[in-house]
Amino acid sequence: MQSRFDPEKVTADDAIVWHENTLFLLDQRVLPQQVTFVELNNATETANAITEMVVRGAPAIGITAAYGMVLAARAAYQAGGADQWRSKIRAEVDLLRRSRPTAVNLFWAIERMEHLMRALPDESDPTERLQAEAKAIHQEDIAANRTMGDLGADLIATGSKVITHCNAGALATGGYGTALGVIRSAFKKGKLSRVYADETRPWLQGARLTAWELLQDRIPVTLLADGAAASLMRQGEVDWVVVGSDRIAANGDVANKIGTYHLIVAAKHHQLKVMVAAPTSTIDMSLPSGAEIPIEVRDGAEIESCGNKRVAADGAEVWNPVFDVTPAGMVDAIVTEKGVVHVPNEEKMRKLMIN
Ligand code: MRU
Repeated sequence: MQSRFDPEKVTADDAIVWHENTLFLLDQRVLPQQVTFVELNNATETANAITEMVVRGAPAIGITAAYGMVLAARAAYQAGGADQWRSKIRAEVDLLRRSRPTAVNLFWAIERMEHLMRALPDESDPTERLQAEAKAIHQEDIAANRTMGDLGADLIATGSKVITHCNAGALATGGYGTALGVIRSAFKKGKLSRVYADETRPWLQGARLTAWELLQDRIPVTLLADGAAASLMRQGEVDWVVVGSDRIAANGDVANKIGTYHLIVAAKHHQLKVMVAAPTSTIDMSLPSGAEIPIEVRDGAEIESCGNKRVAADGAEVWNPVFDVTPAGMVDAIVTEKGVVHVPNEEKMRKLMIN
């Protein structure tokens, strides 16, 4: 695959490529130093790629799982024919479902593919129809991001300074990005005087991925250590916090990358505005509040090391939750492709989802 791509020309919008019945993922573990693709030929490899963070970001994980189900269905049909493909696919779909727990887009995409699977006629090869559905999920996500970009940019006054956390850009989605989609659109409209990005320990999605994406778009970005954000705010350097989300509960509580809550607590202390940009596939109306959102806890080795070099003292225990929850009342606007929810609560979220 690498030979088909010129690394100089690969952009963040090329992060998920479906080509000739094979899935190629831009390897986000090694960006920006290496621009390289991982080739996936079956659902087990796809689930492992999600767990190991070759691909990451809520919508991108969902899209990847949808393509993984196409790979699973093709293999199951080849092995079991029309009679058995539905039962043969089950174990691999479960593997995809267990690949990461927090981003609800994963379960949303699997459920959408399963819904189609149930509706398909028994006698036919399911591959084509499932492939078309996975491509639709991918394309709809890009369209949603462009709509959110416009809606979010409309909320931002000319001359604003924004800060973002983690990476909610093209790499984290089907393309264009959620929070970075808003930033891209606002920048195009000449509204931003500065963009700040938290480095986002321990995976450094901000330093490695957000900075890479913004610079590709010629948007100047200033990186800072996560702990520097409150001081930046006190100096009057931030008007808006703009972030994405991995799961939003029915009452508007927002789960996002660890450190988001911390950033928003500081923003509220300084009377700044907070925007969460996320497609409706990130909203989980089955969970009443953020307290029910499963928070992934990853291996402590991620904290003990920095850039593959061990930095922690031997013997210290480590706690490594990789997402946190911000209460709905601390959010000024949730921007979705269906519209903006100002100061979210359960009633407003229900109204949005019914439309
Ligand atoms: O652990 P990650 O890198 O998958 O976490 C991603 C995030 O927290 C993003 O901010 C979130 O998914 C929004 S992406 C559009």
